Amino acid sequence: MVTARLLSLAGLVSLAQAFAFPEGCEPRQVHIAGGADASKSLSVSWVTDGSECGDFSSVSYSSDGWTKSVGNAAPSSPTRYNQTTTKYGTYVSPYLWNCELPDLAADTEYSFAFGATQPSPPSPPSPSYSFKTAPSATSSPSSSLYPTKIAMVGDLGQTSDSASTVANIAKEEVDFIAHAGDMSYADCDHDRWDSWFDMVEDVSSNTPWYVVGGNHEIEHSDVDGEIFVAYENRFNMPKIKPAEMEPFTGETSCTPSAFLGKYDWGNSFYKFAHGPSTFLMLNSYTDSAPGSPQYAWVESTLAGIDREATPWVFALFHSPFYNSFSDHQGEEQQILMKSSMEDLFIKYRVNAAFSGHVHGYERTNNVAHEALDPAGPMYVIIGDGGNREGHASGFLDSTPPVWSAFRDNTIFGHALVTLLNETHAEFTWEKNVAEGVFETADSFIMENQYYL
Ligand SMILES: *[C@@H]1O[C@H](CO)[C@@H](O)[C@H](O)[C@H]1NC(C)=O
Ligand SMILES: *[C@@H]1O[C@H](CO)[C@@H](O)[C@H](O)[C@H]1NC(C)=O
Ligand SMILES: [Fe+2]
Repeated sequence: MVTARLLSLAGLVSLAQAFAFPEGCEPRQVHIAGGADASKSLSVSWVTDGSECGDFSSVSYSSDGWTKSVGNAAPSSPTRYNQTTTKYGTYVSPYLWNCELPDLAADTEYSFAFGATQPSPPSPPSPSYSFKTAPSATSSPSSSLYPTKIAMVGDLGQTSDSASTVANIAKEEVDFIAHAGDMSYADCDHDRWDSWFDMVEDVSSNTPWYVVGGNHEIEHSDVDGEIFVAYENRFNMPKIKPAEMEPFTGETSCTPSAFLGKYDWGNSFYKFAHGPSTFLMLNSYTDSAPGSPQYAWVESTLAGIDREATPWVFALFHSPFYNSFSDHQGEEQQILMKSSMEDLFIKYRVNAAFSGHVHGYERTNNVAHEALDPAGPMYVIIGDGGNREGHASGFLDSTPPVWSAFRDNTIFGHALVTLLNETHAEFTWEKNVAEGVFETADSFIMENQYYL
């Protein structure tokens, strides 16, 4: 898909008009995510400094290059969040806007811009952005369902290495990005959320970007115990229902490595379907034991997936089940989630699970309870996005365990999954060479365990 901004309006309106937003209403940090069914809806999120923006806060969109039909969607009122910590005092966020673009056509390239619709062709006072909806899993010919190209990233941060990773992902022209947690490394200094969204905007405004919460999203306040405040407020994933969360009353740092709190629904765990794939986006840091909301939802969701429609099923969560690095071993949330959910993943033939947390790259063979098993998932750690904490320190043992197929803690990068057809997918790990330059360092053909 097109990842560069389309300045298709530049020829229609003068630059002065093009950027004539009322004071405080210019949209910044634009980011998009597909809906629960990415062939039908998409959410546009952005921030402004002011809240009284009238028609300038609505989103115009068009599937024919602004020549004929122009839709217009109005967001609900903007929200703000604040957080107080001893170290950083009180931060109050900019105004946060979300707008759902409903009833989209499948497999269609759209343009969107901020501002009210005008007689066609429109002249919204905004640059024009673009995205492509997913093909419909049930009604598209398989020639449009495949290939589906997905970038996977984790533990990204906002260093020059992070910027290289983002620039490299932009060159892949993927259908969407799935991020296995630890986005900004704001670490309770919330201005760093604003600078992170600025850093990713060229990509996030044109490519649906789905996230799960990592420990760097916990951002526990030592004043009122609130957790995941920026994460829940700044992203707008396809929510099942509003978040249910509780302040954490125990002693802990802003971003504890090992943690179990209460944060269900909302952006905590959700699913989406994009073309021939269903993704379960999970939270390592809330209860995952049998009987918990997350466990019950994962079980019923996996049982209900129509594998004829979406033969590929993936899970993302931050804290990995399989990890042969010495970092982040034996953490409580990891032990709990693996002991409760690994059997569900095996039973329902989840194809692969992607995590971060450890700042390296590791791909497993198909595995079930530490033993090689062609029916078990492949597990991948992609915590090598390039954040300020640097590379994972080393390996637990210099001889890799039998399930470990490839591991590296020396180079940053991202992974790419290309779904070729219902039985085969290509998986590659792309290491950063420079900004906009990368090369394949690990490559593997995945076979869909569902058909075994
Ligand atoms: C912070 O948020 C709380 C709850 O939403 C609100 O009552 C309070 O007034 C806010 N404080 C500031 C400084 O905005
Ligand atoms: C799916 O793709 C693989 C790899 O390209 C190929 O070997 C296989 O024949 C394809 N299967 C079908 C049914 O097209
Ligand atoms: Fe982490």
